[in-house]
Amino acid sequence: MKGIVLSGGRGTRLYPATKAVSKQLIPLYDKPMVYYPLATLMQMGIREILVVTTPEDEERYRHLLSDGTRWGINISYCRQPKPEGIAQALLLGQDFIKDSAVALILGDNFIHGEGLFQSLARARAFSTGAINFAYRVSDPQRYGIIEFDAEGRPQRLVEKPAKPKSNWAVIGLYVYDQRASDYAADLKPSARGELEITDLNQRYLDLGQLRVEKLGPGNAWLDTGTHDSWLEACHYVQTIFHRQGQMIGCPEEVAYRNNFISAAQLDKLAHEMRASTYGQYLKALLA
Ligand code: DAU
Repeated sequence: MKGIVLSGGRGTRLYPATKAVSKQLIPLYDKPMVYYPLATLMQMGIREILVVTTPEDEERYRHLLSDGTRWGINISYCRQPKPEGIAQALLLGQDFIKDSAVALILGDNFIHGEGLFQSLARARAFSTGAINFAYRVSDPQRYGIIEFDAEGRPQRLVEKPAKPKSNWAVIGLYVYDQRASDYAADLKPSARGELEITDLNQRYLDLGQLRVEKLGPGNAWLDTGTHDSWLEACHYVQTIFHRQGQMIGCPEEVAYRNNFISAAQLDKLAHEMRASTYGQYLKALLA
């Protein structure tokens, strides 16, 4: 399976904080926001990753992430000239995806918890169709939501409904079989001028090939879309770090635990960042 991180968009809801820099490059507590979705893909065992950025920001992403070698993965880049929809990432990434299955994750999505790992393990065993991950929220009108029938089967997907009939939001991590780019090519822009990921997911649902993994309350899916929710996410990461000594969204740690890199390689990365608590954390992983 390959992975795509969609890291474009203008981040206008966080202006002026994101006027001069891509939203997904600003830090969430101790590391750039884009580290979290990257680490999630790596936790899924994915080592071929495409990062989709705005043309203006591509250089900065290359500076931060380079080609991924130091994390034992391969990172390539692609530009999205205008934010014309999340599903457009699957068109822009068509040559990258080729005949593979693909996991698409939004560059500002933050997911944490044990249930996720179990769902991710099931996602890894995935062969045909698509998988959406759903999370219960109190403000469903802000998201794409899933309505279920009386037996709990997914019935309909609705993007930002004014009067939601379900509290289950679709989080920004989507897994597709090799048909995703072809199906994305059939999509028509919505009223807001975007190729909607919800329409693509609905197509899989209509085919009876959409699986929905519900993430229980023991998981966290945090939004970073407003100043307050961004700060809450920072505090969440800090609290887990202080109480459990566990870093969230650390690609170096995932790379080491998944044997993408050796102890010697991790030591080198730790040494380069020895002045920061981040580098000291990496060093302690080797103790
Ligand atoms: O966060 C999950 C939600 O993400 C889903 O529940 C919705 O179904 C889905 O449409 C999306 O909702 P938003 O309208 O909140 O997405 P937003 O436009 O904020 O974009 C999400 C991220 O993707 C954001 O960091 C910018 C990036 N993006 C978005 C679009 C539309 C791009 O890089 N390019 C784009 O064309």
